[in-house]
Amino acid sequence: MSIQVRDQVFSLTTNDSLYQMKVDQYGILNHTWYGPKTEMDMSYIEDYPEISFSANLWDTEKSRMYSLNDRLLEYPCGGISDFREPALLLRVPDGSSSLDLRYYSYEILEGKYSIEKLPASFDRDHKTQTLKITLKDTVYDIFVDLLYGIFEEENVITRSVTIRNMTPFEIQVKKAVSASLDLPESDYEVIHFHGRHAMERLAERTSLSHGTFSIGSRRGQSSHQHNPGIILAKNNTNETSGEAYGMLLVYSGGFEADIEKDQLDQIRATIGLRSENFRWQLKPCEHFCAPEAILSYSEKGLGVLSNQYHDFIRSHLIRSSFVHQKRPILINNWEATYFDFNGEKLLSIAKSAHELGIELFVLDDGWFGERHNDDSSLGDWFVNEKKLQMPLRQLVEKIHALGMQFGLWIEPEMVSENSKLYRDHPNWVLRSPLRDPARSRYQLVLDMANPEVVDYLEQVFTKLIEENEIDYIKWDMNRSISDFYAPSLSPKTQSEMAHRYMLGVYDLADRLTSRFENILFEGCAGGGGRFDAGMLYYFPQYWCSDDTDAHNRCFIQHGTSFFYPISATGSHVSAIPNHQTGRNTSLYTRGIVAMAGTFGYELDLSELSPKEKEEVKEQIKVYKSMQELVLEGDYYRLSDPNQQNVSAWSFVSKDKKKIIVQAVVFEHKPNMKKPHVFLQGLDENRWYRRKEDGHLFTGKALMKAGLFLPDQLGTDEACMIELEQIDSKNREAQ
Ligand code: GLA
Repeated sequence: MSIQVRDQVFSLTTNDSLYQMKVDQYGILNHTWYGPKTEMDMSYIEDYPEISFSANLWDTEKSRMYSLNDRLLEYPCGGISDFREPALLLRVPDGSSSLDLRYYSYEILEGKYSIEKLPASFDRDHKTQTLKITLKDTVYDIFVDLLYGIFEEENVITRSVTIRNMTPFEIQVKKAVSASLDLPESDYEVIHFHGRHAMERLAERTSLSHGTFSIGSRRGQSSHQHNPGIILAKNNTNETSGEAYGMLLVYSGGFEADIEKDQLDQIRATIGLRSENFRWQLKPCEHFCAPEAILSYSEKGLGVLSNQYHDFIRSHLIRSSFVHQKRPILINNWEATYFDFNGEKLLSIAKSAHELGIELFVLDDGWFGERHNDDSSLGDWFVNEKKLQMPLRQLVEKIHALGMQFGLWIEPEMVSENSKLYRDHPNWVLRSPLRDPARSRYQLVLDMANPEVVDYLEQVFTKLIEENEIDYIKWDMNRSISDFYAPSLSPKTQSEMAHRYMLGVYDLADRLTSRFENILFEGCAGGGGRFDAGMLYYFPQYWCSDDTDAHNRCFIQHGTSFFYPISATGSHVSAIPNHQTGRNTSLYTRGIVAMAGTFGYELDLSELSPKEKEEVKEQIKVYKSMQELVLEGDYYRLSDPNQQNVSAWSFVSKDKKKIIVQAVVFEHKPNMKKPHVFLQGLDENRWYRRKEDGHLFTGKALMKAGLFLPDQLGTDEACMIELEQIDSKNREAQ
């Protein structure tokens, strides 16, 4: 049983972890443990001396030994003597923010809970149980349901929270994090993923000092700047050993993640939607659901932690049936043509792509309205037949006749001032009636909090997809939200706007992806500006970054891989000099880097030399032969490109029989030993044969002594080494 309740101790066990809570003598729900399985009541670790200036609960009478400010708490709320970062802040009927939550009841439910209107993980195999612990305020009928989904084999605990107002008064939710995690020690470092447009999810590891380390987004999207996931790793944790905790938010809007090191050197880590400027009104009998957070723990290093997330996201979060399917190799015309194309030009790109083995043609931005540059027509999702010189349907048919699939770019949430939609519905845009909104990429944002807008978009895109037999959709979002004012909401509820916007986006994504289950959706937000677990629920893959430079992609894809599976990471070979950096890398290197993702091309293939075309054909052959391993296998980071002269990674089949190592050596170092990497995830007692020359290695040797990479002249030189496990009995015969 993954949930055990004994003497008010709640123990949630997975294969390799124990998550434990205990109701104490005052009815406070303590968080007693998250870590390796210790097989006991862990509340003994909460043994505090008297600590001055830590206020004591009234109930403790004259004892000065018990303070909420010191204890490890499960869902701490502000206003009653815990001076640390609260998980929950409400405005209660007396006008204050004081809330005193005590244990009320619990329930064990078969199956995994879902969260209304929000993406959340699921369990199709019905192996998961849900624990619901209800807390209640001592004064008001305010109930807080803490929800836990226990995924035993996956080593994952999911969390969510519902706040129920059963008072006869209106209350406000000012902050409700999805998960709060108190840990008794502080020798942790935090790994987080920061960046900017075209340079997202760069891994940064930093030690914690006293006070609060904080990341987040106030952009109405999870953002390029900070990804909504944090890892707490013990100081000595590396890829292959040591303890690490992950907290990943299933949410695509503004968020905050705070890690506080308190006066007792304890840690409190919280993650949830952004509380700044957030106020959610709860009338009597209404409730509020916080998004989900996915927690995972490993004592075997960051590699295992990442694979736990990858497996979980693939099996229990991405709901599209494409998740376990081979994806078509695509050609996207964006970097090939930008806005400058007509139907014939597109067809010629598609034809040359088809000859090389490419299976899906994607028509990017510029096919609608009068969209000849980025200053017009968003919102006018009507085909520009004059520009295409043919109806879209005809273009699709011609592409289909080649034996290729057809994909289309859309940006549903946006509108250009120069558009019919804006002229017809100026009040459908996020803007205060008193101020002009900020433009970004010349565009404005639609009021997705308005159900009328969502209905309209559903109808427009349904028609477009149905009339044109589209096989793939790229859903883009090319700006951050700056004007948090929705004309559809009253002034009193403007502080709900950011979250209501996200609910509208999820609603539209839900409607379109449910209706068009056979269409492959790829998410995008100026590259990876909203690459998060919320979006992956609807879209099985996401365009990783607008930076297609193979060198930079090593860093971007390295950071992305800590939480997100490779099967979700859109990666393409583009032209040189690279359009973002001007760098020249070989076609081979560009191919290797793009193979660590859902593979495709984004350049004018007709400009390639015959030799390059042959190389593309070969790349496609290679990728197809390894695709299953890339999409379903384990993935290991074999180097830290920030620290080393090489970016290396490997794919290992679940049965540990097939291994592909790929690497990019940034710079040739003359008169030095060859670069080498230590493999991970092999069977140490088995023999592995290197395919290219038949050399045999034991798994242990490859993991402990490493594998040499070829010593090549040049910069950003890539390589790929295949190994396969051999039947030990036949070793002599090899
Ligand atoms: C964004 C995307 C690109 C491309 C352009 C089109 O920047 O990330 O891939 O689709 O928009 O405008």
